[in-house]
Amino acid sequence: MGSLTIRKLDEAMKARLRLRAARNGRSVEEEARTILRDAAADAESPPAADPTPTEAPSAAAAAAKPARVLLVIGGGIAAYKSLDLIRRLRERGIAVRCVLTRAGSEFITPLSVGAIAGERPYTDLFNPDHEFDVGHIRLARDTDLVIVAPATADLMAKMANGHADDLATAVLLATDKPILLAPAMNPRMWANKATQRNVTRLQNDGVTLVGPGEGEMAERGERGRGRMAEPLEIAVRVTALLAPQDKPLAGYRMLITSGPTHEPIDPVRYIANRSSGKQGHAIAAAAAAAGAEVTLVSGPVTIPDPNGITVVHVESAREMLAAVEKAMPADIAIFAAAVADWRVARDSEQKIKKQTGAATPELSLTENPDILATISKLPPARRPPLVIGFAAETEHVERHAREKLARKGCDWIVANDVSPATGIMGGDSNTVHLISATGIEHWPPQSKDAVAQMLIEHIARTMLEKMKAKS
Ligand code: CTP
Repeated sequence: MGSLTIRKLDEAMKARLRLRAARNGRSVEEEARTILRDAAADAESPPAADPTPTEAPSAAAAAAKPARVLLVIGGGIAAYKSLDLIRRLRERGIAVRCVLTRAGSEFITPLSVGAIAGERPYTDLFNPDHEFDVGHIRLARDTDLVIVAPATADLMAKMANGHADDLATAVLLATDKPILLAPAMNPRMWANKATQRNVTRLQNDGVTLVGPGEGEMAERGERGRGRMAEPLEIAVRVTALLAPQDKPLAGYRMLITSGPTHEPIDPVRYIANRSSGKQGHAIAAAAAAAGAEVTLVSGPVTIPDPNGITVVHVESAREMLAAVEKAMPADIAIFAAAVADWRVARDSEQKIKKQTGAATPELSLTENPDILATISKLPPARRPPLVIGFAAETEHVERHAREKLARKGCDWIVANDVSPATGIMGGDSNTVHLISATGIEHWPPQSKDAVAQMLIEHIARTMLEKMKAKS
């Protein structure tokens, strides 16, 4: 068989392949090899006796069905955060059914859980009402994902050893669905060898962990690793686990700026630049296709708004900054706009009239706010975890871009040479270099759509790695 040439695939197919590869943390070539291996294995397996699917719904039907999760609430002080978690999951359109352990109900009541979840929680393995109602086997199976939050040291020990002496552990043993644990305990309990042994065993069994984080504990004066991950972080992780394979950015909020800004001189004249918005808009479209919830803040452009995203139209740099601040918080922010560095210090309310013979008017300029630097330098609690700037340069591209990365305080800079000979400003193609604190990648000359696609894949891989590192 001749070697596979990915370059010869059509653009849409390549884009889907790249997204799959990013999602699975593989190179595009490895992903293609995996698909071929799976297809060959399928072809070799004997045909099913009955070709009519009974249980398995079509992909479209599965996509239309709202996601359902089962939340097991363990007995820890962090149980109060589970109420916020339920709210955040429901905000995302996810139906939440709850199991409250006996220890869990020492911290929060079935009444409050039921009120927020919209259905009563299940508490007892031997409650005849509950068993006739759904039964623990159906509870375990009739869900897309099981979440345990807070996952106490005791609950994790029972899971690791296959115990099933109450409803929560019976459900966890009976389920065939993915399990996400949000551990919460005292730092010494977390660091204990027995807990660490159980964590390793659970991870080897395919269980996913989110957190625990470091910080103040409920006990006075106690600090360290053991805090349950914040509800928002758990909700993002849940959305990602429930997302179809080709939506690696599902659950992420992205903020993108694009286009030029217009700085008024008087009601009819303005200062502008040659930016078309094509690159920023292409990034917004690729981000939405990857499942992100996108807000695009666009300066005046002539290209259409991409579908399926929120677009805020602005004119000037100051309006752009205000719209960006209003669209926060975001998980990822990309500043692709060519923002005017200066505006006219005092723009005229009336059209400036030409007066023959009189001196020509002089424009006095003042500096605009730097939107990228403003957002990059926000305190950690408000700063998006990934902030990406662009660098439009006409000479010493790499050196200037590195300086910009340091000066603006962002995480990555996408640098491009915009000197007129390149045709990049306003054109359809781009040659960029991706610069971060750890190095530089030189990307080949390609269409602005392909640059957008590569950037989104790079972001998806990075977010996946960040998540894995946190687990
Ligand atoms: N940027 C911004 N607000 C500004 C100026 C720039 O958010 N007032 C952002 C751009 O969106 C881009 C990055 O900063 O992501 C770099 O923009 P660029 O025009 O290349 O750099 P400047 O900061 O304007 O610096 P210089 O003009 O010296 O190259």
